[in-house]
Amino acid sequence: MCGITGRIRSGNAVEDLMAGLENLEYRGYDSAGLAIQNGHGIDVLKCEGEADQLRRLVDQHRPSGSIGIGHTRWSTHGPPTDENAHPHTGMTDRVAVVHNGIIENYDVLREELKDRGHEFTSDTDTEVVPHLVEEFLDDGAEPFDAFMSAVDRLEGSYALAMIVEGTDAIFATRNGSPLVVGLADDGFFLASDVPAFIEFTDQVIYLENEDVAVLRPDSYGIFDRSATAVDRPVDTIEWSSEDAEKSGYDHYMLKEIHEQPASLNQTIHGRFDPTDESITLDDFEPGEFSDISRVEFVACGTSYHAALYGCHLLGQRGIPAYAHRAGEYASNPMPVDDETLVIGVTQSGETADTLESLRRLEDTPARTLALTNVIGSTAARETDDVLYIRAGPEIGVAATKTFSSQVTALALLSERLHRDITGEPSAHSSGLLQSLGALPEQIESILDSDPTAELTRKYQGMDAHFFIGRGIAHPVALEGALKFKEITYEHAEGFAAGQLKHGPLALVTPNTVVIAVFTGDHDEKTLNNVREVQARGASVIGIAPEDATEVAATVDDLIPIPSSTPELNGLLANVQLQLLSYHFANRLERSIDKPRNLAKSVTVE
Ligand code: F6R
Repeated sequence: MCGITGRIRSGNAVEDLMAGLENLEYRGYDSAGLAIQNGHGIDVLKCEGEADQLRRLVDQHRPSGSIGIGHTRWSTHGPPTDENAHPHTGMTDRVAVVHNGIIENYDVLREELKDRGHEFTSDTDTEVVPHLVEEFLDDGAEPFDAFMSAVDRLEGSYALAMIVEGTDAIFATRNGSPLVVGLADDGFFLASDVPAFIEFTDQVIYLENEDVAVLRPDSYGIFDRSATAVDRPVDTIEWSSEDAEKSGYDHYMLKEIHEQPASLNQTIHGRFDPTDESITLDDFEPGEFSDISRVEFVACGTSYHAALYGCHLLGQRGIPAYAHRAGEYASNPMPVDDETLVIGVTQSGETADTLESLRRLEDTPARTLALTNVIGSTAARETDDVLYIRAGPEIGVAATKTFSSQVTALALLSERLHRDITGEPSAHSSGLLQSLGALPEQIESILDSDPTAELTRKYQGMDAHFFIGRGIAHPVALEGALKFKEITYEHAEGFAAGQLKHGPLALVTPNTVVIAVFTGDHDEKTLNNVREVQARGASVIGIAPEDATEVAATVDDLIPIPSSTPELNGLLANVQLQLLSYHFANRLERSIDKPRNLAKSVTVE
């Protein structure tokens, strides 16, 4: 949700900043801008639209200088317009600021500043920051002190970067929104996320909340809010710029769907041994979870669907589990005790609702665990424990490979919890572990055959697309519908199959297509629901194991999946649903990697 870039090193900053913005567009893409120290002052170029619109401005104006900051925006305060695009400046172009997050007390600050004669040109909350800094500079403060004093006045969640005319430095700070510093041989980078500068360096420092970073041409310093220097570890990123490129695929989403055999191999690598059925989850000691009697999940969107899937995996092992939508939980947390494990499922590790839910548990006896993809993310750092899903970078806004890796990691964790709590493997253990080993190859075979493209022709122009499933197939249906609506902009809803007759059936007409997910569990009941919609004229696409003969005989079109255990058939069905959504969206020529109004990392509540 908004991407920040910055660089201070030899050579012209423009190309580094533009590359950074293009690589961060998944965080927001409704406007873009940059500010560069040109030796005499600061050049600010910004406009509504994606980074390629900005590139046109850059080509026209050819700014030049070695120090700069950039921004790609996902609107929160004010619509996407040239004026609301970042960077923002004060009364003059002496100070330029980019911001990610929300400044909650901006209205109070804005009124104060207006009373003192400041004029504002945008609707954003951000603009108060350069105005505040300007006032402190006018009072004689050095840029670092002026930045600190301005930040002191801010409430809310933010990541900020600033340059000041005549000062060879970038000043940055964070509170709730991520910022990472890149250490290159000839200078420094700053960004909301590593893909912005991974082609230049793999050495990074993740800033902590309230850290203030000062990057100068030959040195950097990190300080706390009382200006005392603090030490932060340097991490090495273990993936390369190629991992964050399209590699010949038309879209990141398609690339990421096709990466699933490899990403799942990474997720399971070294974590279980099918021969002796041992499970080794990183540094978790055997028996670590023996005191846990209940699991609560907090998550949003696709991660919430993975959490629902996790509830079924735990429930089948006799462990009570509940999934909460983090946006709700943050306002209405449930009672917990010292036997409760709360798992925040979050690909990015930066989703504000999920982080806020986890923070609500800080003063409770519950144990918290982040299930995340991003090493060093806020969720990873703020929880008691972390389990990485190791899916590799996901750039497409629609989550695909990370859902598969979340569910796979949850399958291992569920089995592990069962063993810690009861002292023995669950009845599902052997089947699960054998099938997990085969999963990457089974996904490979789905990707090789990909029968879904054909169906997009047959089912184009429908009024509604309903996705149904029962048991584990229910979260898969919800996820299928989310993916479908997200990238096709067509009407799609997911339902528990048995729920249809309690209301949604009223919507079913011959112009409805129902996509029914079967996993080998409860199929007979779901087939009854299929017959109910067929009786109202709807067509049904079934996604089912290849040996499900009755399903094949009942549905109008069958998308087969290789047969695994019912626990993992849901994951295989989900790959087909990802492909189905992709092909529909592609036929409709939608903006698949950057769907309208969405952003990959939602860092506002
Ligand atoms: C859907 C999608 C979103 C995210 C949600 C949570 O394809 O990507 O629904 O799943 O915003 O994001 P994370 O997992 O980063 O917390």
